[in-house]
Order: sequence, then structure tokens, then C-alpha cells
Amino acid sequence: MAPYRLRMHHIPVFFAITISLTWLIVNNVLPVVFPPWEWDKRGSIAQRVRNESQGQENHGVTVVEQGISNQHGNRPEFGHNRGGNVHTAPRCNTTVAILLQSLLPGLDWREYKQFVDQFKQHSAQFKSGEKLKSLHLKCPRQKCDVHVLVTVEARYLNGSDAIIVNMHPLHMKEKHPKLLPHLREVLNPKIHWFFYGVESPQMMTFWDQSVGEILYHHSITYHSEADIELLAAKYSPNHPERVTSTERDWSASKTGMIAWMASNCKYTFWPRLEFVSELKRYVPVDIFGKCGSAQCFPVFDAFAKNCTRVMERYKFYLSLENSECDEYITRKVWENALAAGAVPVVYGGRKETYQRLLPPKSFIHIGDFNSIEALAAYLQLLHSNNSLYNTYHAWRKFGRLETGQYPPLDSQLFCKVVPFTAAPPPQFKVVKNSGYFKGCRSLPGVFAKKASLKSFVPWK
Ligand SMILES: *[C@@H]1O[C@H](CO)[C@@H](O)[C@H](O)[C@H]1NC(C)=O
Ligand SMILES: *[C@@H]1O[C@H](CO)[C@@H](O)[C@H](O)[C@H]1NC(C)=O
Ligand SMILES: *[C@@H]1O[C@H](CO)[C@@H](O)[C@H](O)[C@H]1NC(C)=O
Ligand SMILES: *[C@@H]1O[C@H](CO)[C@@H](O)[C@H](O)[C@H]1NC(C)=O
Ligand SMILES: *[C@@H]1O[C@H](CO)[C@@H](O)[C@H](O)[C@H]1NC(C)=O
Repeated sequence: MAPYRLRMHHIPVFFAITISLTWLIVNNVLPVVFPPWEWDKRGSIAQRVRNESQGQENHGVTVVEQGISNQHGNRPEFGHNRGGNVHTAPRCNTTVAILLQSLLPGLDWREYKQFVDQFKQHSAQFKSGEKLKSLHLKCPRQKCDVHVLVTVEARYLNGSDAIIVNMHPLHMKEKHPKLLPHLREVLNPKIHWFFYGVESPQMMTFWDQSVGEILYHHSITYHSEADIELLAAKYSPNHPERVTSTERDWSASKTGMIAWMASNCKYTFWPRLEFVSELKRYVPVDIFGKCGSAQCFPVFDAFAKNCTRVMERYKFYLSLENSECDEYITRKVWENALAAGAVPVVYGGRKETYQRLLPPKSFIHIGDFNSIEALAAYLQLLHSNNSLYNTYHAWRKFGRLETGQYPPLDSQLFCKVVPFTAAPPPQFKVVKNSGYFKGCRSLPGVFAKKASLKSFVPWK
């Protein structure tokens, strides 16, 4: 057979083939398959990451940043195990393990619902009822691929760059005290240990008394001291939503006075339900969710668009946390109150921490009142005087809300772990000495008794 000779008229053909192939790959028509997991050969990933992170910002390595221009900007993309993504030599590979036996569907913790869904959608290794193994994640911003595993097995953990502990304390309740010291003993000391805390330390210690003893290198909590902060939203001053010359009357179109929505009626660290019931004796409070009879649909989904819209009709929204811990400010303050145009009546942390985090003069802290009756009288005053009520909305002329990534198990979280693994891990810290842990009024967590409303004095 005559050897092939390149001729001029072949060049356009090559060109066309190359373009077509590239198009097919870029558009996920032709998959580039991830090689199977090679568990035992991955010891040097951390080293490679470290080498790559030294200096060179972009050494000719291409990461296809799919989706980077979508509306979510920097949000990462999930790779598909079935091979959906173009994968031209990513800059680094980071393996993040979540210390859990498995991530089963139906695990009753709200953060996990979405997380499990993401696993389901993006990991071919997920089949209903089976244990989850890994989730491939692209982090364009960090120029890295992240593999998320869910495991307690030492041989898999040992190949990880980072291990996240305490994602589901309830699940690990009895196991933490024995398992953690053992793992620290047998695993590679180069592994970075992350402590995760989305619930308050009061709830955590109620679940697992030993939580304060957990050692970690980096923290992922809602507290401002955390290495990776779990923010539901934040206030951004100097950037008003829109500039209007006319004063808006925020009390217009409000048909209700006070709304409260909760699904946890009993398990709180201060007598929350009793507090609301007492308040209801003086002023009308519509209670949505499991603790009352008012309804929005879908029922119990406090963050369904419909329910948030219902809150727009109220002048006030009770944003009462289940715990008395500084900075433990959950999403409802932002979404059901501030974003919905209702003034939040808050309690959880001390007033000072709310002042630091929420827009100026945007909320009412129950610690400012000597009695529930006095609080009710103040709400009544605002209710009857629109110009007074509108002063709680004045901040809107100067700043805006920025909603964060929520739920906290958004994939972005795992991308944020990447930069920490570039250097050797620092000294271990212990949870009980953290700002997160010390930020509570009392510990360990003990649920409030019904009768305790009589002796309840808000934390100021
Ligand atoms: C990392 O860099 C060091 C020297 O800078 C080199 O000896 C080592 O082989 C590199 N490791 C990897 C995994 O590339
Ligand atoms: C990333 O990790 C996978 C799985 O260990 C491996 O097959 C792949 O070659 C790695 N990619 C790079 C660029 O290191
Ligand atoms: C984990 O890796 C380290 C370092 O490679 C090794 O010394 C250790 O024996 C391994 N432990 C397990 C349980 O595989
Ligand atoms: C939202 O509310 C409207 C009426 O208020 C109702 O028709 C609709 O079914 C609700 N949507 C959901 C998802 O429940
Ligand atoms: C409402 O409050 C403002 C500001 O405190 C006050 O000037 C005004 O007189 C009040 N209006 C009524 C009707 O009480």
C-alpha cells in the first residue's frame, strides 16, 4: 500500500474533522470518560497540588470552564461520571471526603436533601439504595477538579486531601469519640481536617456531647471566625437595589401584622413556642408551619416561593432561632423577612451580633424589651404609625441584600476547600476553644422546658 502523503487539498478536510470533533466534545456529544478510581495510587495528590500551586498561575493548562458565564458566575459545575465533560488536563485534583458511612436518600436533614439530589444527578455510582461513592466536581475558579467521597473507610480516606467531620453529628453520635482519634493515628498526617458546623453548638452538643473535643485544622461554620463561612446572605452597604426619588410606604399592601413560621415546636434552647403564644395574647400573630394553623403551600417548605410571597403581606416576621448563640442567624431572617419586606423581630444571638450582620436599623431584638407585653406594645405602635414603621425600611435606600449559596452543602463549599490543601496542615485546634463554640449562652445544649418562660430573660 502506498504510504499516505499529505496533499494540499487534504488540509481543509483535516481542519473540518478537527473542528467537528472539538464541537462534539465541547457540546458533550462525545464523552471524555473519567478513568476508574484507582484508590491506592493517590497518595501524592496533595503533593501535586502543592507543587502546582507554587507560583505558576497558568502554565499552559486548559480548564474548560463550562458554565462560568452562566448567571451563577463562579459556581462550579458538576462533572458527569458517564463522561459529560471536556477534561483537558485540569490544574489540580483534590479529593474531599465527608466522614459518613453513607449518604442515603431520605436522610432527614434539610441540608442533605439537595446534596443527595446532586449526587443522584451527577454520580453514576448512585443507584437508589446503594451507598454513594463519589461526586466529580469542577471548580473553574480554583482551577481544580474536586472529587467528593462519602466514607469512613481508612483506605479511602487516606487518599484524600481533606476530610470533613461533623456533617451529620446525629449519624455519627456514638462513633466520633473512638473513630476520630483512631483515624488521626492511622491516616496520612498531610490530610487536612475540616470541622463543619451549620447547626448551633447547642444543637450539636445536644446530639453529641463530645463535639467540643473534635480536633480540626480548618473550620466551616456560620461563625465569622470560620475559615469557610456558611453565609445565608449578607448586607452590602452603598449599593441600593434601586434608586427612587419618592418615599415608598412599606406598610401599604400589608394585610397582616405578624407572621411566624416554624417546623420545630418543642426542641428549642429557650421557650420559643411559649414566647410566641404569650405574644399572641397581645397582638395578632399568624403561625405558619407545624406549630400553628396558618398555611402556605407547599406546606412546611418555609422557603417555597409561595410561602415567601405570603410573608410579603406581613409587617413583621418573627425570626426566632432555636438556639441562643451569637451569629446563628438562619436564612429566614433574610428570605422570609428582609427580602420579603417584613421587619424581622429577632432572637438567637445577642443584639450586637445582629447589628454587625443585618442592615442598620432593620430589625427589632426582643432583648430590648423588659416584657413580652412591652414588645407587643412597641409592635402595635409601629403598626399604627406608618412613618415610624417605614424607618425600619430606610436602609433600603442605601444598601442591598446579597443572597449567599444555600443550602450550605452547595457544591461551592467543596471548591472552597481546595486552596487550604495547598500548604501543609497547620496545628490542630479543638472545637471547644473556637469562637463558634464559645458563642453560645450556655453549653451543653439542653432543651427548654415549657414552664421556663416565667424565668426567661432574653440574652442581651
Ligand atoms: C514536587 O516538587 C518537588 C520539588 O520541588 C519534587 O521533588 C517532587 O517530585 C514533586 N512532586 C510531584 C508529585 O510532582
Ligand atoms: C485526577 O484524578 C484522577 C483519579 O485519580 C486521575 O485519573 C487523573 O489522571 C487525575 N488528573 C490529573 C490531571 O492529575
Ligand atoms: C496512609 O498513608 C500513609 C502515608 O502514605 C501510610 O503511612 C499509612 O500507613 C496509611 N494508612 C492506611 C490506614 O492506609
Ligand atoms: C401557590 O399558590 C397558589 C395560590 O395561592 C396555588 O394555586 C399554587 O398551587 C401554589 N403553588 C404551589 C407549588 O403550591
Ligand atoms: C408617628 O411617628 C412620628 C415619628 O415619631 C411622629 O412625628 C408622628 O407624630 C407620629 N404620628 C402619629 C399619628 O402619632
